[in-house]
Amino acid sequence: MAEVVIVENAERAGALVAEEIARLISARPDAVLGLATGSTPLPVYAALRTRLQGVDVSQVRGFALDEYVGIDPAHPESYRSVITREVVEPLGLNPQLINVPDGSEEGIAHAGADYDAKIAAAGGVDLQILGIGTDGHIGFNEPGSSFASRTRVKTLTVQTREDNARFFDSVDEVPRHCITQGLGTILEARHLVLLAFGEGKARAVADAVEGPLAAVLPGSAIQLHPHATVVVDEAAASKLRLADYYRYTFANKPAWQGI
Ligand code: PGA
Repeated sequence: MAEVVIVENAERAGALVAEEIARLISARPDAVLGLATGSTPLPVYAALRTRLQGVDVSQVRGFALDEYVGIDPAHPESYRSVITREVVEPLGLNPQLINVPDGSEEGIAHAGADYDAKIAAAGGVDLQILGIGTDGHIGFNEPGSSFASRTRVKTLTVQTREDNARFFDSVDEVPRHCITQGLGTILEARHLVLLAFGEGKARAVADAVEGPLAAVLPGSAIQLHPHATVVVDEAAASKLRLADYYRYTFANKPAWQGI
């Protein structure tokens, strides 16, 4: 099962995950990071700004989880722009080493297979940061996604488009399609770190960690992974049946183990 770490707030979660990423980069300067967009990972990126000062990040490689289809990459809400603004620039990463799926309509027939091949050529993702949607999606693998799915085009649910409308002028501007790493692709990363904050994520977190394995609960795919860490605040943990056990386990964890 996933290791669940319940922390007091998002800032503490960011510091914990940033520490793990810093350890990884120190051990492997050309580490491959799986990068997520959305609000959830922002405390991790904020903590990394401080934690990575003085650390050589010039060889760090990165793969974004997903991109909207048909959006101009220069649009401020394309995931290419978001990753550049939130991660690449503030952390001083080499933009040449950071990959985002090609959401252009011209390339769409082969963009998914090309992206999976690029991840494989990089030797796979070392640490994949994940958020989770209120409907349980990870990446943009909406309910119904195959656990074996590869990077491909998906249709966003009405719920996801409404959730993401806050980044656009109106819900009508939110693209209807995306290209996302598949659940099968995500499961190949060596370490999954899923973060969630707030009451609105409590159901999705409980389903992902403790629910049945089901395509209708895409987050439950993490139960198949040998090294998955779920970092949540108290509100997002509020529907977990075994919350006390997770607290006890983490409190008694040897310091050398990391997350
Ligand atoms: P959020 O999105 O981090 O903006 O809540 C999570 C997701 O959709 O995966």
